[in-house]
Amino acid sequence: MKKILVIGSTGQIGSELTMELRKRYGNDNVVAGYIPGAEPKGELKESGPSALADVTRPDELSEAIKRHGIDSIYNLAALLSVVAEKKPLLAWKIGIDGLLNILELARDHGCSVFTPSSIGSFGLNTPHWMTPQDTIQRPKTIYGVSKVTTELLSDYYHTKYGVDTRSVRFPGIISNVTPPGGGTTDYAVDIYYYAVRGEKFVCPIKQGTLMDMMYMPDALNAAITLMEADPSRLVHRNGFNIASMSFDPEEIYKEIKKHRPAFEMVYDVDPLKQSIAESWPDKMDDSCAREEWGWRPTYDLATMTVDMLDKLSARLLKK
Ligand code: SER
Repeated sequence: MKKILVIGSTGQIGSELTMELRKRYGNDNVVAGYIPGAEPKGELKESGPSALADVTRPDELSEAIKRHGIDSIYNLAALLSVVAEKKPLLAWKIGIDGLLNILELARDHGCSVFTPSSIGSFGLNTPHWMTPQDTIQRPKTIYGVSKVTTELLSDYYHTKYGVDTRSVRFPGIISNVTPPGGGTTDYAVDIYYYAVRGEKFVCPIKQGTLMDMMYMPDALNAAITLMEADPSRLVHRNGFNIASMSFDPEEIYKEIKKHRPAFEMVYDVDPLKQSIAESWPDKMDDSCAREEWGWRPTYDLATMTVDMLDKLSARLLKK
């Protein structure tokens, strides 16, 4: 049976990934790694073990790996794109110095490692439509630079030391549980909260700006399915393009309006977010993930919208 450590277990993806992994592998086999000030609470805390696991403190990580007999690490520690531009040194320290600490420990302890890459690993001169798996990656953000480095370092530890590293390039992830913080794609989460509260939404991204997005259940399934995949089928490792939907602000607004006809949206474009968004793909080609490990998304914009509005209404309106 696997023994899994989730680093960043209280973040946007980590909080739901930890619970999904517990469902699949058993509560006691999935350790919620956290940093001081972001301790697990509620169900995350009660349902299984947790451990201090700050990626910038290798001794602490090593202690958590040894004490819990960890053989598999999901490393979700990162700053998102907009906040990383404001704190580039911290973004590098967490994203890359932290990753090196993890890869070294994985090498010593025989752990597999999943560290997400992102649509942010592409740049303006990447083909934007049906962005290929193998293509130009010259991002201008520190987030992008650290994600390209993440891919390269993870591949390096695989080819040089045989560490079982795997990853996907996540699109913007939309969920109704833990909100993201400081990303360029956050608008596509925020818009649902405004719609459910009956408030006007001010969109920071320009009409016509397409970005890949994905509903959380598909994102979790992608990570777990890739980590379970038969390694002999993997031509690529770090990281696979995965896609399920791509839309601009008007399309998501219109989809929400079908269910909330009074909902209003206006634009007040944020220049930093807009320039980042324009440098990212409009739509990725995910055929390698489909062929090499059977990637299949289940949600599109319409089905995600119904689920987001239902779940958020149930939670926000009962208070
Ligand atoms: N959601 C991330 C961001 O917007 C992209 O991977 O920064």
